[in-house]
Amino acid sequence: MPARPSHRPSTRIARSIALGSLATGLIVASLAGAAGANAAPGGTPGPRYAPGSEGAGDPYFPFAGNGGIDVQHYALDLDYTPPPPAPAPLEGRLAGVATIDLVATADIDRFNLDLRGLTASSVVVNGKSMAFTQGAGELVVTPRPRLKTGQSATVVVTYGGTTGRPTDIEDALYGWVTTRDGAMVVSEPDGSSTWFPVSDHPTDKATYSYEITVPEGRVAVANGLLEGSETADGRTTWRWNAPDPMAAYLATATVGDFRLEQYTAANGTPIIDAIDKSRQPAQYANLARTSDMLTFFEGLYGDYPFVSYGAIVDNDSVSYALETQTRSFFSSSAGLGTVAHELAHQWMGNQVSPGRWADIWLNEGWATYSEWMWTEHNGGQTADARFNALMSSSSQAAWNTVLADPGPFGLFGTPVYNRGAALLHALREKVGDGVFFDIAKQWVARFGGGTATTADFIALSEEVSHQDLTAFFDVWAYQPPKPTSW
Ligand code: TRP
Ligand code: ZN
Repeated sequence: MPARPSHRPSTRIARSIALGSLATGLIVASLAGAAGANAAPGGTPGPRYAPGSEGAGDPYFPFAGNGGIDVQHYALDLDYTPPPPAPAPLEGRLAGVATIDLVATADIDRFNLDLRGLTASSVVVNGKSMAFTQGAGELVVTPRPRLKTGQSATVVVTYGGTTGRPTDIEDALYGWVTTRDGAMVVSEPDGSSTWFPVSDHPTDKATYSYEITVPEGRVAVANGLLEGSETADGRTTWRWNAPDPMAAYLATATVGDFRLEQYTAANGTPIIDAIDKSRQPAQYANLARTSDMLTFFEGLYGDYPFVSYGAIVDNDSVSYALETQTRSFFSSSAGLGTVAHELAHQWMGNQVSPGRWADIWLNEGWATYSEWMWTEHNGGQTADARFNALMSSSSQAAWNTVLADPGPFGLFGTPVYNRGAALLHALREKVGDGVFFDIAKQWVARFGGGTATTADFIALSEEVSHQDLTAFFDVWAYQPPKPTSW
Protein backbone atom coordinates (compact mmCIF):
# COMPACT_ATOMS: atom_id res chain seq x y z
CA MET A 1 0.00 0.00 0.00
CA PRO A 2 1.35 3.42 -0.82
CA ALA A 3 1.85 5.84 2.04
CA ARG A 4 -0.54 8.75 2.20
CA PRO A 5 1.01 11.97 1.03
CA SER A 6 1.69 14.33 3.89
CA HIS A 7 0.57 17.90 3.38
CA ARG A 8 3.06 20.12 5.05
CA PRO A 9 2.16 23.61 6.20
CA SER A 10 4.84 25.80 4.64
CA THR A 11 7.69 25.70 2.20
CA ARG A 12 10.27 26.62 4.80
CA ILE A 13 9.21 23.88 7.22
CA ALA A 14 8.91 21.30 4.46
CA ARG A 15 12.40 22.14 3.20
CA SER A 16 14.00 21.79 6.61
CA ILE A 17 12.24 18.50 7.33
CA ALA A 18 13.33 17.17 3.97
CA LEU A 19 16.91 18.35 4.40
CA GLY A 20 17.03 16.92 7.90
CA SER A 21 15.91 13.52 6.73
CA LEU A 22 18.25 13.69 3.73
CA ALA A 23 21.18 14.12 6.10
CA THR A 24 19.95 11.19 8.21
CA GLY A 25 19.66 9.06 5.11
CA LEU A 26 23.26 9.79 4.18
CA ILE A 27 24.52 8.82 7.62
CA VAL A 28 22.59 5.56 7.60
CA ALA A 29 23.89 4.73 4.12
CA SER A 30 27.51 5.42 4.99
CA LEU A 31 27.32 3.44 8.26
CA ALA A 32 25.90 0.49 6.38
CA GLY A 33 28.75 0.77 3.89
CA ALA A 34 31.38 0.96 6.63
CA ALA A 35 29.94 -2.13 8.28
CA GLY A 36 30.41 -3.97 5.02
CA ALA A 37 26.70 -4.56 4.51
CA ASN A 38 27.00 -3.58 0.86
CA ALA A 39 30.44 -4.98 0.12
CA ALA A 40 30.60 -7.49 -2.70
CA PRO A 41 32.88 -10.51 -2.51
CA GLY A 42 36.37 -10.13 -3.94
CA GLY A 43 36.87 -6.59 -2.66
CA THR A 44 34.93 -4.87 -5.45
CA PRO A 45 32.95 -2.13 -3.74
CA GLY A 46 29.23 -2.86 -3.84
CA PRO A 47 26.56 -0.21 -4.19
CA ARG A 48 26.52 2.47 -1.50
CA TYR A 49 22.94 3.58 -1.53
CA ALA A 50 22.06 7.15 -0.68
CA PRO A 51 19.11 9.43 -1.46
CA GLY A 52 19.27 11.40 -4.70
CA SER A 53 19.55 15.13 -4.06
CA GLU A 54 16.48 17.37 -4.05
CA GLY A 55 17.77 19.62 -6.79
CA ALA A 56 19.99 19.56 -9.87
CA GLY A 57 22.41 21.97 -8.18
CA ASP A 58 21.35 25.21 -9.88
CA PRO A 59 22.12 28.09 -7.49
CA TYR A 60 19.15 30.14 -8.81
CA PHE A 61 16.58 27.35 -8.29
CA PRO A 62 18.10 24.91 -5.78
CA PHE A 63 15.07 22.59 -5.72
CA ALA A 64 14.56 22.42 -9.51
CA GLY A 65 15.54 19.11 -11.05
CA ASN A 66 16.68 16.15 -9.01
CA GLY A 67 19.86 14.22 -8.32
CA GLY A 68 20.44 10.49 -8.78
CA ILE A 69 18.09 10.15 -11.76
CA ASP A 70 18.19 10.93 -15.48
CA VAL A 71 14.75 10.92 -17.08
CA GLN A 72 14.59 9.46 -20.59
CA HIS A 73 10.92 9.77 -21.46
CA TYR A 74 7.67 11.17 -20.08
CA ALA A 75 4.41 9.63 -21.32
CA LEU A 76 1.78 12.05 -20.02
CA ASP A 77 -1.80 10.92 -19.90
CA LEU A 78 -3.81 13.98 -18.88
CA ASP A 79 -7.52 14.39 -18.35
CA TYR A 80 -8.57 18.03 -18.08
CA THR A 81 -11.82 19.80 -17.43
CA PRO A 82 -11.67 23.59 -17.91
CA PRO A 83 -13.57 25.88 -15.52
CA PRO A 84 -17.33 26.39 -15.82
CA PRO A 85 -18.48 29.72 -17.33
CA ALA A 86 -17.98 32.98 -15.41
CA PRO A 87 -18.54 33.92 -12.64
CA ALA A 88 -17.16 30.54 -11.54
CA PRO A 89 -13.52 30.88 -10.45
CA LEU A 90 -10.75 30.17 -12.99
CA GLU A 91 -10.12 26.70 -11.68
CA GLY A 92 -9.86 23.54 -13.75
CA ARG A 93 -9.59 19.89 -12.84
CA LEU A 94 -6.56 17.92 -13.90
CA ALA A 95 -6.10 14.17 -13.48
CA GLY A 96 -2.85 12.71 -14.73
CA VAL A 97 -0.93 9.50 -15.09
CA ALA A 98 2.76 10.18 -15.80
CA THR A 99 4.79 7.20 -16.96
CA ILE A 100 8.42 8.17 -16.51
CA ASP A 101 11.30 6.13 -17.87
CA LEU A 102 14.49 6.98 -16.02
CA VAL A 103 18.01 5.73 -15.38
CA ALA A 104 19.65 5.91 -11.96
CA THR A 105 22.84 8.00 -12.07
CA ALA A 106 23.91 6.86 -8.59
CA ASP A 107 23.08 4.03 -6.21
CA ILE A 108 19.85 5.44 -4.78
CA ASP A 109 17.48 4.33 -2.06
CA ARG A 110 15.29 7.39 -2.58
CA PHE A 111 14.73 9.99 -5.27
CA ASN A 112 12.61 13.08 -5.80
CA LEU A 113 10.45 14.42 -8.58
CA ASP A 114 9.28 18.03 -8.64
CA LEU A 115 5.49 18.33 -8.21
CA ARG A 116 3.71 21.42 -6.97
CA GLY A 117 0.10 22.05 -6.08
CA LEU A 118 -1.13 18.63 -7.22
CA THR A 119 -1.55 15.50 -5.14
CA ALA A 120 -0.11 12.11 -5.99
CA SER A 121 -2.34 9.14 -5.16
CA SER A 122 -0.03 6.33 -6.18
CA VAL A 123 3.55 5.71 -7.27
CA VAL A 124 4.48 2.46 -9.00
CA VAL A 125 8.10 1.58 -9.76
CA ASN A 126 8.73 -1.30 -12.16
CA GLY A 127 5.20 -2.55 -11.62
CA LYS A 128 5.19 -2.43 -7.81
CA SER A 129 3.49 0.12 -5.55
CA MET A 130 6.02 2.14 -3.60
CA ALA A 131 6.00 4.28 -0.49
CA PHE A 132 6.16 8.00 -1.16
CA THR A 133 5.67 11.31 0.58
CA GLN A 134 4.89 14.77 -0.72
CA GLY A 135 6.38 18.00 0.60
CA ALA A 136 6.09 21.47 -0.87
CA GLY A 137 7.20 21.12 -4.46
CA GLU A 138 8.75 17.67 -4.06
CA LEU A 139 7.46 14.13 -4.45
CA VAL A 140 9.77 11.76 -2.59
CA VAL A 141 9.84 8.14 -3.80
CA THR A 142 11.45 5.20 -2.01
CA PRO A 143 12.07 2.52 -4.65
CA ARG A 144 12.37 -1.08 -3.45
CA PRO A 145 14.48 -2.78 -4.53
CA ARG A 146 16.82 0.20 -4.46
CA LEU A 147 18.27 1.33 -7.77
CA LYS A 148 21.90 0.82 -8.77
CA THR A 149 23.82 3.23 -10.98
CA GLY A 150 22.87 2.70 -14.61
CA GLN A 151 19.73 0.75 -13.79
CA SER A 152 16.59 1.83 -15.62
CA ALA A 153 13.19 2.03 -14.03
CA THR A 154 9.66 2.90 -15.07
CA VAL A 155 7.88 5.12 -12.58
CA VAL A 156 4.13 5.60 -12.89
CA VAL A 157 2.70 8.48 -10.89
CA THR A 158 -1.06 8.92 -10.65
CA TYR A 159 -1.88 12.44 -9.54
CA GLY A 160 -4.31 15.30 -9.86
CA GLY A 161 -6.04 18.27 -8.36
CA THR A 162 -7.41 21.70 -9.00
CA THR A 163 -5.54 23.97 -11.40
CA GLY A 164 -5.24 27.70 -10.86
CA ARG A 165 -2.96 30.43 -12.19
CA PRO A 166 0.54 29.84 -10.82
CA THR A 167 3.21 32.55 -10.91
CA ASP A 168 7.02 32.52 -11.01
CA ILE A 169 9.27 34.23 -8.44
CA GLU A 170 8.73 37.52 -10.28
CA ASP A 171 4.94 37.11 -10.18
CA ALA A 172 4.62 36.39 -13.92
CA LEU A 173 1.97 33.81 -14.82
CA TYR A 174 3.51 30.46 -15.77
CA GLY A 175 3.01 26.71 -15.57
CA TRP A 176 -0.52 25.39 -16.07
CA VAL A 177 -2.32 28.74 -16.34
CA THR A 178 -6.06 28.04 -16.24
CA THR A 179 -8.18 30.02 -18.71
CA ARG A 180 -11.92 30.08 -19.26
CA ASP A 181 -11.65 27.85 -22.34
CA GLY A 182 -8.72 25.70 -21.24
CA ALA A 183 -5.17 26.47 -20.16
CA MET A 184 -2.03 28.25 -21.37
CA VAL A 185 0.90 26.00 -20.53
CA VAL A 186 4.24 27.85 -20.56
CA SER A 187 6.70 26.82 -17.88
CA GLU A 188 9.95 28.79 -18.03
CA PRO A 189 11.95 28.54 -15.87
CA ASP A 190 10.61 26.04 -13.29
CA GLY A 191 6.85 25.82 -13.83
CA SER A 192 6.51 22.31 -15.26
CA SER A 193 6.03 20.90 -11.78
CA THR A 194 2.65 22.67 -11.69
CA TRP A 195 1.32 20.10 -14.18
CA PHE A 196 3.37 16.90 -14.03
CA PRO A 197 5.93 15.15 -11.82
CA VAL A 198 9.20 16.15 -13.41
CA SER A 199 12.93 16.55 -13.14
CA ASP A 200 12.49 20.25 -13.84
CA HIS A 201 15.93 21.43 -14.95
CA PRO A 202 17.25 21.85 -18.52
CA THR A 203 20.16 19.52 -17.81
CA ASP A 204 17.69 16.62 -17.69
CA LYS A 205 16.27 16.57 -21.22
CA ALA A 206 13.87 13.81 -22.22
CA THR A 207 11.48 12.83 -24.99
CA TYR A 208 7.73 13.23 -24.47
CA SER A 209 4.45 11.70 -25.60
CA TYR A 210 1.00 12.90 -24.66
CA GLU A 211 -2.59 11.73 -24.50
CA ILE A 212 -4.67 14.70 -23.44
CA THR A 213 -8.38 14.26 -22.93
CA VAL A 214 -10.57 17.36 -22.95
CA PRO A 215 -14.28 18.11 -23.50
CA GLU A 216 -15.32 17.52 -27.11
CA GLY A 217 -14.83 20.72 -29.09
CA ARG A 218 -11.72 21.81 -27.19
CA VAL A 219 -8.30 21.19 -28.69
CA ALA A 220 -5.20 20.14 -26.72
CA VAL A 221 -1.95 21.25 -28.35
CA ALA A 222 1.39 19.79 -27.32
CA ASN A 223 4.90 19.55 -28.75
CA GLY A 224 5.97 17.62 -31.82
CA LEU A 225 3.62 15.86 -34.18
CA LEU A 226 -0.11 15.22 -33.90
CA GLU A 227 -0.63 11.47 -34.01
CA GLY A 228 -4.40 11.56 -33.93
CA SER A 229 -7.48 12.28 -31.89
CA GLU A 230 -10.41 10.14 -30.81
CA THR A 231 -13.76 11.23 -29.47
CA ALA A 232 -15.95 9.12 -27.19
CA ASP A 233 -18.69 10.03 -24.73
CA GLY A 234 -18.30 13.77 -25.27
CA ARG A 235 -14.56 13.84 -24.66
CA THR A 236 -11.71 14.00 -27.15
CA THR A 237 -8.25 12.54 -26.61
CA TRP A 238 -5.44 14.32 -28.47
CA ARG A 239 -2.27 12.28 -29.03
CA TRP A 240 1.03 14.06 -29.63
CA ASN A 241 4.57 12.75 -29.92
CA ALA A 242 7.71 14.80 -29.31
CA PRO A 243 10.73 12.58 -30.08
CA ASP A 244 13.40 15.31 -29.83
CA PRO A 245 15.09 15.63 -26.41
CA MET A 246 13.46 18.57 -24.64
CA ALA A 247 14.03 20.61 -21.48
CA ALA A 248 10.97 20.42 -19.22
CA TYR A 249 10.24 24.17 -19.35
CA LEU A 250 9.62 23.86 -23.10
CA ALA A 251 6.88 21.24 -22.80
CA THR A 252 3.31 22.37 -23.38
CA ALA A 253 -0.20 20.92 -23.31
CA THR A 254 -2.17 24.07 -24.06
CA VAL A 255 -5.95 23.66 -24.23
CA GLY A 256 -8.39 26.00 -25.93
CA ASP A 257 -10.85 26.72 -28.65
CA PHE A 258 -8.32 26.30 -31.43
CA ARG A 259 -8.39 25.86 -35.19
CA LEU A 260 -5.44 23.74 -36.37
CA GLU A 261 -3.68 24.72 -39.59
CA GLN A 262 -1.18 22.33 -41.11
CA TYR A 263 1.20 22.88 -44.01
CA THR A 264 4.81 22.15 -45.01
CA ALA A 265 7.43 24.91 -44.93
CA ALA A 266 9.82 25.47 -47.86
CA ASN A 267 12.57 23.57 -46.00
CA GLY A 268 10.28 20.53 -45.58
CA THR A 269 9.39 21.04 -41.90
CA PRO A 270 5.77 20.14 -41.11
CA ILE A 271 4.04 23.14 -39.55
CA ILE A 272 1.08 22.86 -37.19
CA ASP A 273 -0.37 26.18 -36.02
CA ALA A 274 -3.13 26.43 -33.43
CA ILE A 275 -5.08 29.67 -33.69
CA ASP A 276 -7.76 30.55 -31.18
CA LYS A 277 -11.01 30.84 -33.14
CA SER A 278 -11.62 34.33 -31.76
CA ARG A 279 -8.43 35.74 -33.33
CA GLN A 280 -8.67 38.22 -36.20
CA PRO A 281 -6.32 37.70 -39.19
CA ALA A 282 -4.18 40.71 -38.17
CA GLN A 283 -3.38 38.95 -34.90
CA TYR A 284 -1.72 35.97 -36.63
CA ALA A 285 -0.87 37.24 -40.14
CA ASN A 286 2.86 37.38 -39.31
CA LEU A 287 2.93 33.59 -38.97
CA ALA A 288 2.84 33.53 -42.78
CA ARG A 289 6.53 34.55 -42.64
CA THR A 290 7.49 31.39 -40.71
CA SER A 291 8.61 29.48 -43.80
CA ASP A 292 10.91 32.35 -44.94
CA MET A 293 12.29 32.69 -41.44
CA LEU A 294 13.04 28.96 -41.21
CA THR A 295 15.06 29.22 -44.42
CA PHE A 296 16.85 32.34 -43.16
CA PHE A 297 17.80 30.87 -39.77
CA GLU A 298 18.84 27.54 -41.31
CA GLY A 299 21.36 29.57 -43.32
CA LEU A 300 22.74 31.09 -40.12
CA TYR A 301 22.57 28.20 -37.64
CA GLY A 302 22.25 24.95 -39.62
CA ASP A 303 19.31 22.65 -40.27
CA TYR A 304 16.14 23.18 -38.23
CA PRO A 305 16.65 20.66 -35.41
CA PHE A 306 13.17 19.27 -34.72
CA VAL A 307 10.40 17.14 -36.28
CA SER A 308 7.93 19.99 -36.65
CA TYR A 309 7.21 23.61 -35.88
CA GLY A 310 4.20 25.86 -35.46
CA ALA A 311 2.64 28.48 -33.25
CA ILE A 312 -0.12 28.69 -30.71
CA VAL A 313 -1.94 32.04 -30.73
CA ASP A 314 -4.30 32.12 -27.77
CA ASN A 315 -7.00 34.62 -26.90
CA ASP A 316 -5.68 34.82 -23.33
CA SER A 317 -2.38 36.30 -22.22
CA VAL A 318 0.48 35.60 -19.85
CA SER A 319 1.99 38.94 -21.04
CA TYR A 320 4.86 37.29 -22.89
CA ALA A 321 5.58 34.74 -25.61
CA LEU A 322 7.46 31.48 -25.06
CA GLU A 323 9.54 29.33 -27.38
CA THR A 324 7.77 26.08 -26.35
CA GLN A 325 9.70 23.45 -28.30
CA THR A 326 8.38 22.98 -31.85
CA ARG A 327 5.27 25.03 -30.97
CA SER A 328 5.94 28.62 -29.87
CA PHE A 329 3.27 30.20 -27.69
CA PHE A 330 1.95 33.72 -28.31
CA SER A 331 -0.31 35.66 -25.97
CA SER A 332 -3.21 37.33 -27.84
CA SER A 333 -1.28 38.13 -31.03
CA ALA A 334 2.01 37.33 -32.75
CA GLY A 335 4.18 40.35 -33.63
CA LEU A 336 6.68 39.96 -36.48
CA GLY A 337 9.82 40.45 -34.37
CA THR A 338 8.48 38.04 -31.74
CA VAL A 339 7.67 35.42 -34.40
CA ALA A 340 11.34 35.58 -35.47
CA HIS A 341 12.55 35.62 -31.85
CA GLU A 342 10.67 32.48 -30.79
CA LEU A 343 11.65 30.63 -33.95
CA ALA A 344 15.35 31.45 -33.43
CA HIS A 345 15.04 30.07 -29.89
CA GLN A 346 14.42 26.64 -31.39
CA TRP A 347 18.16 26.51 -32.13
CA MET A 348 19.31 28.92 -29.44
CA GLY A 349 17.76 27.86 -26.16
CA ASN A 350 15.91 24.71 -27.20
CA GLN A 351 18.38 22.62 -29.20
CA VAL A 352 21.18 24.11 -27.07
CA SER A 353 19.78 24.90 -23.62
CA PRO A 354 21.30 26.79 -20.70
CA GLY A 355 23.43 24.61 -18.41
CA ARG A 356 22.43 26.83 -15.49
CA TRP A 357 19.77 29.54 -15.35
CA ALA A 358 22.58 32.07 -14.94
CA ASP A 359 23.38 31.36 -18.61
CA ILE A 360 19.99 32.68 -19.79
CA TRP A 361 21.66 35.40 -21.91
CA LEU A 362 22.71 32.63 -24.29
CA ASN A 363 18.99 32.11 -24.96
CA GLU A 364 17.76 35.68 -24.94
CA GLY A 365 20.84 37.36 -26.41
CA TRP A 366 20.83 34.99 -29.38
CA ALA A 367 17.06 35.23 -29.89
CA THR A 368 17.16 39.03 -29.72
CA TYR A 369 20.13 39.21 -32.06
CA SER A 370 18.33 36.83 -34.42
CA GLU A 371 15.40 39.25 -34.39
CA TRP A 372 17.80 42.08 -35.32
CA MET A 373 19.25 40.04 -38.17
CA TRP A 374 15.84 39.00 -39.47
CA THR A 375 14.67 42.63 -39.41
CA GLU A 376 17.70 43.67 -41.46
CA HIS A 377 17.20 40.76 -43.89
CA ASN A 378 13.57 41.79 -44.24
CA GLY A 379 14.54 45.31 -45.33
CA GLY A 380 14.16 47.01 -41.94
CA GLN A 381 16.69 48.58 -39.58
CA THR A 382 20.17 47.03 -39.81
CA ALA A 383 21.69 45.13 -36.89
CA ASP A 384 24.49 47.70 -36.92
CA ALA A 385 22.06 50.60 -36.60
CA ARG A 386 20.28 48.79 -33.77
CA PHE A 387 23.62 48.21 -32.00
CA ASN A 388 24.70 51.83 -32.44
CA ALA A 389 21.39 53.14 -31.18
CA LEU A 390 21.66 50.98 -28.09
CA MET A 391 25.26 51.94 -27.41
CA SER A 392 24.61 55.66 -27.80
CA SER A 393 21.33 55.76 -25.94
CA SER A 394 21.46 57.57 -22.61
CA SER A 395 19.16 54.93 -21.11
CA GLN A 396 20.90 52.75 -18.58
CA ALA A 397 18.30 49.99 -18.95
CA ALA A 398 20.55 47.58 -20.85
CA TRP A 399 23.50 48.02 -18.54
CA ASN A 400 24.66 47.73 -14.94
CA THR A 401 24.19 43.99 -14.99
CA VAL A 402 26.59 41.10 -14.90
CA LEU A 403 25.26 39.52 -18.07
CA ALA A 404 26.51 36.03 -17.18
CA ASP A 405 24.96 36.20 -13.69
CA PRO A 406 21.80 38.34 -13.77
CA GLY A 407 20.31 36.72 -10.66
CA PRO A 408 17.05 34.73 -10.48
CA PHE A 409 15.00 37.95 -10.46
CA GLY A 410 16.81 39.33 -13.50
CA LEU A 411 16.36 36.37 -15.85
CA PHE A 412 14.01 38.18 -18.22
CA GLY A 413 15.19 41.73 -17.63
CA THR A 414 16.08 44.10 -20.47
CA PRO A 415 19.86 43.71 -20.02
CA VAL A 416 19.74 39.97 -20.66
CA TYR A 417 18.04 40.62 -24.01
CA ASN A 418 19.70 43.81 -25.24
CA ARG A 419 23.16 43.55 -23.77
CA GLY A 420 23.18 39.90 -24.83
CA ALA A 421 22.36 40.87 -28.42
CA ALA A 422 24.92 43.71 -28.34
CA LEU A 423 27.63 41.30 -27.10
CA LEU A 424 26.98 39.07 -30.10
CA HIS A 425 27.08 41.99 -32.52
CA ALA A 426 30.36 43.21 -30.96
CA LEU A 427 31.78 39.68 -31.20
CA ARG A 428 30.77 39.50 -34.86
CA GLU A 429 32.59 42.79 -35.56
CA LYS A 430 35.64 41.58 -33.65
CA VAL A 431 36.05 38.15 -35.29
CA GLY A 432 34.43 38.83 -38.67
CA ASP A 433 31.32 37.34 -40.29
CA GLY A 434 32.92 34.07 -41.42
CA VAL A 435 34.22 33.18 -37.96
CA PHE A 436 31.12 34.49 -36.18
CA PHE A 437 28.71 32.30 -38.14
CA ASP A 438 31.09 29.36 -37.80
CA ILE A 439 30.87 29.83 -34.04
CA ALA A 440 27.08 29.95 -34.27
CA LYS A 441 26.85 26.76 -36.35
CA GLN A 442 29.39 24.88 -34.23
CA TRP A 443 27.59 25.95 -31.06
CA VAL A 444 24.46 24.19 -32.28
CA ALA A 445 26.30 21.22 -33.79
CA ARG A 446 28.45 20.59 -30.74
CA PHE A 447 26.02 21.23 -27.89
CA GLY A 448 22.75 20.41 -29.67
CA GLY A 449 20.49 18.00 -27.79
CA GLY A 450 22.05 19.08 -24.51
CA THR A 451 23.10 22.16 -22.58
CA ALA A 452 26.01 24.56 -22.51
CA THR A 453 27.30 27.39 -20.35
CA THR A 454 28.87 30.82 -20.80
CA ALA A 455 32.28 29.21 -20.24
CA ASP A 456 31.53 26.79 -23.10
CA PHE A 457 30.62 29.71 -25.35
CA ILE A 458 33.80 31.60 -24.53
CA ALA A 459 35.94 28.50 -25.08
CA LEU A 460 34.28 27.78 -28.44
CA SER A 461 34.62 31.41 -29.57
CA GLU A 462 38.34 31.36 -28.73
CA GLU A 463 38.82 27.98 -30.41
CA VAL A 464 37.09 28.95 -33.65
CA SER A 465 38.56 32.48 -33.84
CA HIS A 466 42.07 31.58 -32.60
CA GLN A 467 41.88 34.71 -30.46
CA ASP A 468 42.27 35.32 -26.76
CA LEU A 469 38.87 36.80 -25.92
CA THR A 470 39.34 37.09 -22.15
CA ALA A 471 39.22 40.89 -22.12
CA PHE A 472 36.29 40.98 -24.56
CA PHE A 473 34.09 38.66 -22.47
CA ASP A 474 35.22 40.30 -19.26
CA VAL A 475 33.81 43.72 -20.18
CA TRP A 476 30.75 42.32 -21.97
CA ALA A 477 29.69 39.43 -19.70
CA TYR A 478 31.28 39.89 -16.31
CA GLN A 479 31.63 43.65 -15.61
CA PRO A 480 28.41 45.56 -14.92
CA PRO A 481 29.05 48.91 -16.67
CA LYS A 482 28.34 49.61 -20.31
CA PRO A 483 31.45 48.50 -22.24
CA THR A 484 33.45 51.36 -23.73
CA SER A 485 36.33 49.46 -25.35
CA TRP A 486 36.84 45.76 -26.08
N1 TRP B 1 11.62 33.27 -22.78
C1 TRP B 1 10.57 34.18 -23.14
C2 TRP B 1 11.04 34.86 -24.44
O1 TRP B 1 11.89 35.68 -24.43
C3 TRP B 1 10.33 35.17 -22.09
C4 TRP B 1 9.84 34.84 -20.73
C5 TRP B 1 9.64 33.68 -20.06
C6 TRP B 1 9.38 35.86 -19.87
N2 TRP B 1 9.11 33.90 -18.83
C7 TRP B 1 8.94 35.24 -18.70
C8 TRP B 1 9.32 37.24 -19.99
C9 TRP B 1 8.41 35.99 -17.65
C10 TRP B 1 8.80 37.97 -18.95
C11 TRP B 1 8.36 37.36 -17.79
O2 TRP B 1 10.62 34.52 -25.50
ZN1 ZN C 1 13.31 34.93 -25.74
